[in-house]
Amino acid sequence: MEFELNGRHQQREPQPGQCLRTFLRDCGAFGVKKGCDAGDCGACTVHIDGKPFNSCLVPAFRAEGRKITTLEGLASDGHLHAIQKAFHDAQAFQCGYCAAGMMMTIATFDDAKKADLPHALKGNLCRCTGYRSIADALKGVSVLEDDVAGKACGANLPNPFTDDIVAGRAHYTMDVAIEGLLHLKVLRSPHAHARILKIDRSKALKVPGVCAVYTWEDVPRRLYSTALHEDHLVDPDDTYMLDNVARFVGQRIAAVVADSEGAAEAGCRALEVEYEVLPAVFDPEAAMRPGAPLLHDKDVLTDNGNIFCDLHGEVGSVEQGLATADVVHEMTYSTSRVQHVHLETHGSIAWKGEDGRWHVRTSSQGPFIVRQKLCYLLGLRTRDLHVFTERVGGGFGGKQEMVSEDLPLFAAMKLGRPVKWEWTREEEFIGATTRHQMTTKVRLGAKRDGTLTAIDIRVVSNTGAYGNHGSETLAAAISSPMALYRCPNKKAVGYAVYTNMVPGGGFRGYGSSQTTFALECAIDDLARLLKTDPLALRRKNVVRQGDMVDSVWQDASDASFGSYGLDQCMDFVESALKRGNGVAKPEGEEWAEGTGVALAMLECGPPTEHRSGAEMRLRADGTYHLAVGSSEMGNGITTAHKQIAAAIVVSRIGAIDIVNADTDKTPYDTGTFASTGTVVAGKAVHLTALALAGDILDYAAKYSGTERTLCRLEDDAVICGNKRVPLREVYDAGTKAGHRFEAKRKGYLSPRSIAFNVHGIRLAVHKVTGEVRILHSVHGADIGRLINPQQCRGQIDGSIGMGFGWALTENMAHNEHGAMINPNLRNYRIPAYADVPPTEVFFADTHDSIGPLGAKSQGECAINPVAPAIANALANATGVRFAHLPFTPDRLFARLAELP
Ligand code: FES
Ligand code: FES
Repeated sequence: MEFELNGRHQQREPQPGQCLRTFLRDCGAFGVKKGCDAGDCGACTVHIDGKPFNSCLVPAFRAEGRKITTLEGLASDGHLHAIQKAFHDAQAFQCGYCAAGMMMTIATFDDAKKADLPHALKGNLCRCTGYRSIADALKGVSVLEDDVAGKACGANLPNPFTDDIVAGRAHYTMDVAIEGLLHLKVLRSPHAHARILKIDRSKALKVPGVCAVYTWEDVPRRLYSTALHEDHLVDPDDTYMLDNVARFVGQRIAAVVADSEGAAEAGCRALEVEYEVLPAVFDPEAAMRPGAPLLHDKDVLTDNGNIFCDLHGEVGSVEQGLATADVVHEMTYSTSRVQHVHLETHGSIAWKGEDGRWHVRTSSQGPFIVRQKLCYLLGLRTRDLHVFTERVGGGFGGKQEMVSEDLPLFAAMKLGRPVKWEWTREEEFIGATTRHQMTTKVRLGAKRDGTLTAIDIRVVSNTGAYGNHGSETLAAAISSPMALYRCPNKKAVGYAVYTNMVPGGGFRGYGSSQTTFALECAIDDLARLLKTDPLALRRKNVVRQGDMVDSVWQDASDASFGSYGLDQCMDFVESALKRGNGVAKPEGEEWAEGTGVALAMLECGPPTEHRSGAEMRLRADGTYHLAVGSSEMGNGITTAHKQIAAAIVVSRIGAIDIVNADTDKTPYDTGTFASTGTVVAGKAVHLTALALAGDILDYAAKYSGTERTLCRLEDDAVICGNKRVPLREVYDAGTKAGHRFEAKRKGYLSPRSIAFNVHGIRLAVHKVTGEVRILHSVHGADIGRLINPQQCRGQIDGSIGMGFGWALTENMAHNEHGAMINPNLRNYRIPAYADVPPTEVFFADTHDSIGPLGAKSQGECAINPVAPAIANALANATGVRFAHLPFTPDRLFARLAELP
């Protein structure tokens, strides 16, 4: 077949049945991304003869005689296309995975389309940005400031990978060509609970191209947890690589390795599995009852049956607090199971290197813990295994899990060839983890004047078939959300319960989102009973600077207010809603309008051990090299880390290069999760840069014969009194004398500061159809000093967009057999451009005394108040408390139709 690819003539045959996307990637055009397999996400958009197409929907043979352009070919004569420049200047991406398809689509827009982005961009999804920065790019906004030595902290400096992302050169996990690569696919269980009696692999092994089939009988029989935590004891060891019992629809049953993905899939279809179907239980309350089917056997279960973790805490006496209350509110609220939908699916490639060691390239938030787990499972020594990430296309907690690395490495070790496993979008929904579905019963007591006398919650968390993150999310659920309000009597009881559902896992907000939803709805309901303003009730009861951070535990907490900006956040949201934005509700009496507010508070990091290391060295040319163990997954930590380092060594960020998340090249890091990228890894960078700066100054003082106090760093030199000694000269002199200008430090989490977020919503709801329109969205964030304001804004926008999805559009629907019935982006519905109205974002002016350079965490907490603010606005509009997420039109309609 002959065609033109990015201006170059090509002669190459596609494989039978191959789509254009995989064919172009086989041609090395990795700017063509895969986010789904069904034309739903737009990540694979290319131009065919100048028109945009989802290349995953185009048969490869249709390229015959056509001119194909991918992002790599969009620039011409060495100049970026206008849209590439616009994305560059507006920093219109975070992980950047969607950006290739976005830019290819937008590059074809005429003025009419640019003026109607909600329609024009409906086929391109972004999970990270909340679309605000993309809209900015189209408006020609430039957010970038100059990279000035000594002024890095607090400046809007570009993501260090910007040039590669906009040019299509940024390489993600699967963007690599490896000679002799084999492909792995898995057969997944059709049953929610079944024992495997027999697997006949004979037909699968006869499929042309199939090299091997592995079942539970072939892999090491070692229990582990897929959760990535440094403290392995916080998650139950309840999982085998491949098991002889299926506990949810979608569990891996067998792995097939072949010389093409198609052959591996055909091999899976040819496997014959005999199952003994077992009784299943999906509802955690039912799973807790005596006689319920037990998910695990005695190796895993305790005497509590399917309850694998129960937590009880109380301060004061809730019963006394309720007895002395003038008003008591009691209600049950529940949150839904949702999926992370990072646009880059899970995937790993494993091979043996020329150094005789094993290498795993993976899309992970924690390569160091992945290495530990792989060594444990496969009997390797740590030094014989190298785990690393390339650019990661989003995580949100979904990649704080070892789910794609073990089988490729196992197969590579068996077969002696490189093996790749890339998940499909459907597998993400049925086989990866989700946000834990939680049901929270709340009892609140208050005096007539609004003073809280009791807060009591009972949380039941449906952890699904395996307990990864189940106990930690439960602990988070009853920690910071319970500490947000002053109250002498607080009690929480929580149960994490096994059911035959897809497992829960870490997810932005990590348990706190679920109970924040319940408590913030309940506070509003209490305000209605007290006939008082909900925000005034909150102001009366919120914690204040100087308070202890008390949830329900008797033990002292290591969390404290390193800064406090909750009052500023509330002020901003209140005044913005009062001021309004001029957007009126649609005309017609069927539309009701309402306003709602919710607060959230989150500790800056997990209560368990978390540490990170950084290494920095001066190079011969006077620039710096920085190595940090944390993964960059679109959260912007590489930019923040460079800015922190540059601020200390008084350089430009352009003079620092960075490598991250590589067990060979960077110091240890527990993982990028629980909002630790800035406060823990950033602390390690801060300490390292301080140590290196001190070392350079010490040496320069000695070398120049200047008093140390008269020496200071400048961009590429040390100013020693009235002499300017270039860093190159310092380096040369030091190196000749055997001195190495390098430093290495660790950052630890404790003590933890506190971040706050407040969200305000004004919306209209159609009382007949249940349609919701957001009219005004306002957010206040107290995240300490902003290391990079536009990046912080991006994280907040992304969280809010995800919050809209959780509240209004997303839902994992399962049938009565536990099988998901909408495992695709089209029917699951993460928010598209049209679903995410702009939010006014305000940052509290605070400087944290704990976090590096005054910064606090920001990656997670902003999502927490969004759903309850929407729920409270709906209650305000209709007088009906919608207590169960999601608020899709059909569910709202069902309640509204009952109204008189
Ligand atoms: S990968 Fe083609 S539209 Fe999603
Ligand atoms: S930046 Fe759009 S999916 Fe990550």
